Amino acid sequence: MDKYVLVTGGTGYIGSHTAVALLEAGYQIVIIDNLNNSSKEVLSRIEEITGTTPPFVQADLRDTDTVHEVFEKYSVTSVMHFAGHKAVGESVENPSMYYANNIGSTLSLIEAMQAAEIFTLIFSSSATVYSSTALSPFKEETEKDPINPYGMTKYLIEQRLTDLIKTHADWRIGLLRYFNPLGAHPTGRLGETSIGTPNNLMPYLMQVASGKLPKLKIFGDDYDTPDGTCIRDYIHVADLAKGHLAALQFLKGRTGAHAWNLGTGKGTSVLELVETVEKVIGYPINREITSRREGDVIEAIADPSKAYAELLWRAELTIDDMCKDSWNWQQQNPDGYSSTR
Ligand SMILES: NC(=O)c1ccc[n+]([C@@H]2O[C@H](COP(=O)([O-])OP(=O)(O)OC[C@H]3O[C@@H](n4cnc5c(N)ncnc54)[C@H](O)[C@@H]3O)[C@@H](O)[C@H]2O)c1
Repeated sequence: MDKYVLVTGGTGYIGSHTAVALLEAGYQIVIIDNLNNSSKEVLSRIEEITGTTPPFVQADLRDTDTVHEVFEKYSVTSVMHFAGHKAVGESVENPSMYYANNIGSTLSLIEAMQAAEIFTLIFSSSATVYSSTALSPFKEETEKDPINPYGMTKYLIEQRLTDLIKTHADWRIGLLRYFNPLGAHPTGRLGETSIGTPNNLMPYLMQVASGKLPKLKIFGDDYDTPDGTCIRDYIHVADLAKGHLAALQFLKGRTGAHAWNLGTGKGTSVLELVETVEKVIGYPINREITSRREGDVIEAIADPSKAYAELLWRAELTIDDMCKDSWNWQQQNPDGYSSTR
């Protein structure tokens, strides 16, 4: 059993769900997050669900000395690295911020890990590393050619992490390429929040469903797909969290850098997702079809067979589960973590 797993970005959406999964599996964890896109309230919610409040250090990962102190204090033996900026549109508007934070924080983390001789790292990568002209389903070896700065930071970080193997044979690296995470903790106590207007489809949909935003814009219904809208591989955040534990287990027995797609292998169109939300909430979503959005790929679906073969992991939850859990979260927390109960 690991002494401590450091969870960077552990108060964020995916990090917090994985923190719960780690605690429930008996791991000890410590969280570093600068709260740039999350709330300290998440720690109380983790405590509510698991009975444990994990140690938390509010710091920017680029502060290498603080990261190193955390390694020493908690005898950390492995790291799950979620921290980073994640909004594609924002990365196009402000690429420097994305390169500085996503790459800067990873380089700082690597430096602190090397100094502390910690060599196990699981990184939150993304399906955005794949070429926009590649055909779905994407295998791990499908051509990479990110079309926005966010995807490029993920790609460059993957390269840097893979390079580490050349300098030290003990490195054990997991590159987890998430497809489209949705859903929330089944208790409704953890979920996806957004500071300001949401960038991601589900939080946006939830705010329209609850009357906080007037309508959903669907960017194009004239694509070459059965209903004309883009198709994505949506995956429940709880399934993603389990994928991290499976990867950690795998890396105990293997050195090297290993990439896995974490997706369901099933495509759902934007319209199908909206209709599933309508079924769950029981009334129609106010929506408008607008012109296509630049940079949107028609279809992005994972081939998750490598994760199944090597990690014995596969997604189990459905689009219905994702929509039900997101709606439960939205109703319990209309103002995200600033809602009180
Ligand atoms: N949510 C998605 O759709 C999606 C898809 C693919 C990949 N990912 C990746 O997964 C990871 C987690 O995503 P999420 O949805 O949980 O995002 P999130 O914004 O909810 O969580 C990221 C956390 O990192 C923290 N953070 C950012 N920069 C930091 C820094 N320099 N130092 C310390 N903390 C910092 C933020 O405060 C936040 O709590 C990200 O790396 C993201 O790029 C997310």
